[in-house]
Amino acid sequence: MYVITGGGTGIGRAIALALDEPVLITGRRAGPLAAVSHGSGGRVRHLVCDNADPDDAAKMAATIDEPVRGLVLCAGGNPAIGRPDPGDLKGVAALLDETLASNLRSAVLTCAALEPHLADGASVVLFGSIAAERGVGFYGPAKAAVSAYAVGLAGRLGPRGIRVNCVSPGYIADTEFFRGGMTADREQQLRLQTMSGRTGTPDDVVGTALFLLSPHAGHLTGQTLHLNGGAFTTR
Ligand SMILES: NC(=O)c1ccc[n+]([C@@H]2O[C@H](COP(=O)([O-])OP(=O)(O)OC[C@H]3O[C@@H](n4cnc5c(N)ncnc54)[C@H](OP(=O)(O)O)[C@@H]3O)[C@@H](O)[C@H]2O)c1
Repeated sequence: MYVITGGGTGIGRAIALALDEPVLITGRRAGPLAAVSHGSGGRVRHLVCDNADPDDAAKMAATIDEPVRGLVLCAGGNPAIGRPDPGDLKGVAALLDETLASNLRSAVLTCAALEPHLADGASVVLFGSIAAERGVGFYGPAKAAVSAYAVGLAGRLGPRGIRVNCVSPGYIADTEFFRGGMTADREQQLRLQTMSGRTGTPDDVVGTALFLLSPHAGHLTGQTLHLNGGAFTTR
């Protein structure tokens, strides 16, 4: 089976619907999760779970009764979007903690909770962001930390044949990430940063995720894969 955090919307939803085996998806809102389960004809099971909460992560793990051969950690986001600047230091601290919890703590707790359930030879896919290269308040630093976490986890789980990689997308349209706040001008700016001349889609990410989950990526571990139409390049 597969487990996908943040599987009720956007990228996680698209990956859940593209797989052809049983999947457990998690998220904090029941509505989107139930809609994905319903649309899958029962193949996708869902659980309301805040993956950044240790008790919820433990409850999620307790529902797993077969080896997990793929774990995809899509839970995350930038809580600063659409909000005023945090203002005083308590506001700064609260926004920092919320951003790290949403992106880093959710991934770390989920991996820790599910580690005993991972099949030998399993594949773990984390989600970073191009924001880790650009800055972007506390969201970029949180995603840089996710990418670094993937390296250490890959080293620890490597002896079990478990691969761990981090996909780092640029702008992907048709998700809830921007909470409806993406403007046509901003989208055009982001499109112009690419070499492909277009924005990314959840299906673009699905292809990369399915590859990483497959034996075709059998010697690929400890890496961050940038998926952004050339908006950010590595050598
Ligand atoms: N869209 C982009 O342009 C873009 C670019 C780079 C990276 N990414 C990353 O890609 C991943 C997927 O995002 P997306 O684009 O598909 O946006 P999205 O539609 O907003 O999906 C994020 C999902 O994460 C869930 N989530 C957030 N915090 C959670 C928590 N603590 N526990 C469980 N679920 C949680 C959300 O559901 P609930 O609110 O119901 O919990 C939501 O379903 C994220 O990590 C995001 O940072 C996105």
